[in-house]
Amino acid sequence: MTSPPPALSVRDLVVTFPRDGGTVEAVSGVSFDVPRGQTLGIVGESGCGKSLTSLALLRLVPPPGVMTASRIALAGRELTGLPEREMRALRGAKIAMVFQEPMTSLNPVYTAGQQIAEAIRLHEPVSRRDARTRAVELLRRVGIPSPELRIDAYPHQLSGGMRQRVMIAMALACGPDVLVADEPTTALDVTIQAQILDLLRRLQGELGMSVVLVTHDLGVVAEMAQQVVVMYAGRVVESGPVREVFDAPLHPYTRGLLGSVPPIGRPRGGPHERPARLPTIEGIVPSLGSLPSGCAFRDRCAFAEPRCASEAPLAVELRAGHASRCHLAERWVA
Ligand SMILES: Nc1ncnc2c1ncn2[C@@H]1O[C@H](COP(=O)(O)OP(=O)(O)O)[C@@H](O)[C@H]1O
Ligand SMILES: [Mg+2]
Repeated sequence: MTSPPPALSVRDLVVTFPRDGGTVEAVSGVSFDVPRGQTLGIVGESGCGKSLTSLALLRLVPPPGVMTASRIALAGRELTGLPEREMRALRGAKIAMVFQEPMTSLNPVYTAGQQIAEAIRLHEPVSRRDARTRAVELLRRVGIPSPELRIDAYPHQLSGGMRQRVMIAMALACGPDVLVADEPTTALDVTIQAQILDLLRRLQGELGMSVVLVTHDLGVVAEMAQQVVVMYAGRVVESGPVREVFDAPLHPYTRGLLGSVPPIGRPRGGPHERPARLPTIEGIVPSLGSLPSGCAFRDRCAFAEPRCASEAPLAVELRAGHASRCHLAERWVA
């Protein structure tokens, strides 16, 4: 018996930008699978290529960026060769995206209801009136009180949390199979963050969606995701089941990230608690034009050896489904 294909399968995703007459790779050979109905978290410091990876999944990399991949498949359906017209039909209907900053992604001159109705009518031949009725239902579904009144509010009349709920309602308008959420709670305060995450989790359960959740917050991944991909300098340096990766990390970068994260399971969202930040690892993410030779992490790594400078490590699966891109990975296997 063959198992059904994953909800989303990505292989060898590369995003380049022109620089100084040549190109630099902002995303460098990223591969992962999102099992059906599960959440895959993508983590890493700012500048690691998380947003470009998520945009590339919907073929929305901003020019002059160029993306290539050997596979981007939705439930086994290959998207890489699709003409833009077909891709546009899939976007929103099969794979949808929620961005970090709802104020920049919502159009200020249209009401919440108009924008959700538009998202529906883009993909389905429904009347304005029916689209509006569905928009009210969607607003109710994402927990907006008195949706029949709020539907006529403009974005600036809504709080940040409410705007993010409207964005989620828009993303859900056509019942996508895969939702890509890029730092969906980063711009929100901690209490609202927790509410939005609860909402996403509830909707995922109700709708059976698969989710790609991009965040710099490992605590969020621990709570929300079953699978995790750790990115550094455009590469996946470690990937696997969340519990395994967090309990027994196989890459020094992941170990560093986990170093000062609050213990998993600690209640979050207290009034004075700051969101879990990535702990400081010595040094900074190198700029794309000046990556070190060999392992991109080596100049920040306490364990670097000569071969780390001469040879780029390959991703090696050291436990079932748990891979690390480190020459010394075997050393970390307990
Ligand atoms: N429009 C762009 N033009 C040139 N380089 C870009 C552009 N967008 C992103 N980059 C490069 O790609 C890197 C990764 O960006 P991004 O995916 O936004 O990182 P993250 O979301 O992990 O913070 C950035 O550090 C930057 O060097
Ligand atoms: Mg980003």
